[in-house]
Amino acid sequence: VARSSGSGALQGKRVTISAGGTREALDPVRFLGNRSSGKQGMALAEAALARGADVTLVLAHAEVAPPRGCDVVRVESALQLREAVLAALPATDILVMAAAVADFRPAEVVATKIKKNDDGTDPVITLVRNPDVLREAVLARRDHGNPPVIAGFAAETGDATADPLSHARAKLARKGCDFLVLNVVGSDRVFGEDSNEVTILDADGSESAAVRGSKRAVADAVLDHAAQLLSR
Ligand code: CTP
Ligand code: CA
Repeated sequence: VARSSGSGALQGKRVTISAGGTREALDPVRFLGNRSSGKQGMALAEAALARGADVTLVLAHAEVAPPRGCDVVRVESALQLREAVLAALPATDILVMAAAVADFRPAEVVATKIKKNDDGTDPVITLVRNPDVLREAVLARRDHGNPPVIAGFAAETGDATADPLSHARAKLARKGCDFLVLNVVGSDRVFGEDSNEVTILDADGSESAAVRGSKRAVADAVLDHAAQLLSR
């Protein structure tokens, strides 16, 4: 049920949003990236601004410009995003992790441009795991007097082992955040689309809202939910 954007005013509250897709450097001119458009994060920033919040936007690569009026911290890699999110956390009332954070990065960043050679050996790229920023934020908030509400996003397909909802519930439990915005990915494209269909899963795994509509409608539902948790 989509709720109106009128509820859940956020005057005097700091909303931190991570948005866009990280880029993991391979050499000075190349990176590993992903197809995140950043549109959902921008819609969240706009919706938070409309509610009177102070907005920090931790912005990785995006196809769209950030709205006027938010404090933008530009980042490129997952490690930079982690640093920016954790730095913003103590002053944050609501953290929404909408960014597509790369799960892996090249084990080494080559200092000079990787060249082809003619001896028949092509480069092999070794990847290492990036930190889970959402999980780290959940752990770090324990040290804060005013622990923020923390929300994650997840796009899931089903697979041989489980359906999307089961995957999302397991993820929610792993992350320990207050709620997860689940996008069930079918054959339709989600990345770059202007609208969305999501389910909000509460910390106990229960489905608390289903929203179908624009990314702004999803953003408003997310902020309604976060504002409700904040006022508890
Ligand atoms: N996330 C994060 N740090 C990472 C990876 C993901 O903070 N290194 C956050 C995303 O911003 C999102 C949530 O975690 O809010 C879920 O992302 P997702 O990629 O679905 O979760 P993963 O734990 O990476 O699981 P998977 O193996 O399914 O990709
Ligand atoms: Ca991932």
